[in-house]
Amino acid sequence: MQSLELFEAPVLPSRQRLGPAAMVLRKFALPYMQEAMPAIEAIAAAAPFRHMETPGGFTMSVALTNCGALGWTTDRQGYRYTPLDPSSGEPWPAMPEVFARLASKAAEAAGFVDFEPDACLVNRYAPGARLSLHQDKNERDYGAPIVSVSLGMPAVFLFGGHARTDPTVKVPLHHGDVVVWGGVDRLRYHGVMPLKDEPHALLGSQRINFTFRKAG
Ligand code: SIN
Ligand code: FE2
Repeated sequence: MQSLELFEAPVLPSRQRLGPAAMVLRKFALPYMQEAMPAIEAIAAAAPFRHMETPGGFTMSVALTNCGALGWTTDRQGYRYTPLDPSSGEPWPAMPEVFARLASKAAEAAGFVDFEPDACLVNRYAPGARLSLHQDKNERDYGAPIVSVSLGMPAVFLFGGHARTDPTVKVPLHHGDVVVWGGVDRLRYHGVMPLKDEPHALLGSQRINFTFRKAG
């Protein structure tokens, strides 16, 4: 007799569900890396990583830059998206085609069709850097998912609920993993635990994360 299991959706080891509309796609970004790495270097050359100040007056431990039509920024006035890099007054570097393709394919694999991000926040974590629990809510349209790509050193991603005090799950993320969350999970709290120094073969003692969003 055939096993019933054949007719149930198997939990593929390459996919891990974090919620009704949230999942980790393990190693999804790896096939894109050869094209994406030089693109990351070009972005960092045109719009260098910098440590921004939060509205509360703290300097972020994560260094960031952006590409795409809109870039996420913070200063004493608040969090927002801007078409220009405040450091240079120039537009953010254009979003490389390989980035847009990766973001849209990952969104599709997680069940979100036609994702066309206009913003890509690029975060760089050195050992010790962390990102406290927050919601992504500076975007105009919560209908689009968030697509978050991890490269370099591993990190522990925290995925919580809709209130800051809700319990969080700890999700280890490695080079090439992609997390997608949208729909009913779009506003869930998330963050990154302080990074351990576990140098990566390609990127050394750093973790690079890019987060794609439809911001405008
Ligand atoms: C973010 O929430 O902006 C970044 C998350 C991450 O670095 O994995
Ligand atoms: Fe976020």
